[in-house]
Amino acid sequence: MAESPPPVLDLPDDLEAAIVALKRERNAVLLAHYYQDDEIQDLADFVGDSLALAQAAARVEADVIAFCGVHFMAETAKILNPETPVVVPDLEAGCSLADGCPPDAFRAFIAEHPGAKVLSYINCSAEVKALSDLICTSSNAVEMVKHFQGEKLIFAPDRHLARWVARESGRDDLIVWQGACIVHEQFSAKELAKLRIRHDGAEVLAHPECDQAVLDQADFIASTTGIIRRAVESPANTLIIATEDGVFHQIRKELAQAGRTKELIQAPGMDESCACNRCPFMRLNTQEKLYLALRDLEPQVTVAPEIIDRARKPLELMLELSR
Ligand code: 13P
Ligand code: SF4
Repeated sequence: MAESPPPVLDLPDDLEAAIVALKRERNAVLLAHYYQDDEIQDLADFVGDSLALAQAAARVEADVIAFCGVHFMAETAKILNPETPVVVPDLEAGCSLADGCPPDAFRAFIAEHPGAKVLSYINCSAEVKALSDLICTSSNAVEMVKHFQGEKLIFAPDRHLARWVARESGRDDLIVWQGACIVHEQFSAKELAKLRIRHDGAEVLAHPECDQAVLDQADFIASTTGIIRRAVESPANTLIIATEDGVFHQIRKELAQAGRTKELIQAPGMDESCACNRCPFMRLNTQEKLYLALRDLEPQVTVAPEIIDRARKPLELMLELSR
């Protein structure tokens, strides 16, 4: 059977201008995470970490949300804006943490721990949020754990974040779902140690999704927003950064505004031959796909109404507690 020809996409020559025009025409707001390509970040109305993006989504008054990040982030925007179409450049932009915590298996895990409260990292599906008492992000996880003082507590789905949070909050009894981020797990503690010797005086900034051996070498541990802020404000001129290098764009922009430059080095991975510390999901989004999503109003993120009803409560509680 003859293969059908590929669809004619009919892309404009000046994609950026076309996206700006479509945003205006649709009265759309473009929300983007720091791990997006530079040119997507520059087109966005708001760029942020997961908490700031959820807060921005809760304030949206636009007719359409175009979300450039990964699926769980766009789902969060949909849960907070059930009546608003949420379009994404690529529906395949998932997350290893969200994919590694299937709702049925998580429900069974909860059932094994009767009486435990459930605190879920925002990097999980809407269904897992619906099974949770509270949501957290990397920027508020320690505070959110403290909300459950004296209570039996499940923390899901990132075991590295859980270990860091346990240490920071003084809780050594968290019941942890053993998930991980394939990007942050790639940083090599051994190579990092060698790099630090070659760059005496460099400051090491790391995301709490990294392995303990990497975090042990960090001078500063925070969410992407925290890393960007510290990189700009730090007195060090060389920064070794253990997170996705999408954050470099905002750091360079903010430094340029202050008339400064710094040497930014991404922490080394375990396999030099692969760009494994670039998020393969985040980087599925392109300007071309964003243009098509705004033009055709698809693909859209959908969440079942009963899941929205249940997932909204723990998300709104996090937003309330993070004010
Ligand atoms: P932040 O909330 O720190 O931006 O983290 C998002 C993420 O997916 C990290 O891998
Ligand atoms: Fe998920 Fe890791 Fe990609 Fe963040 S960097 S979206 S946690 S796979």
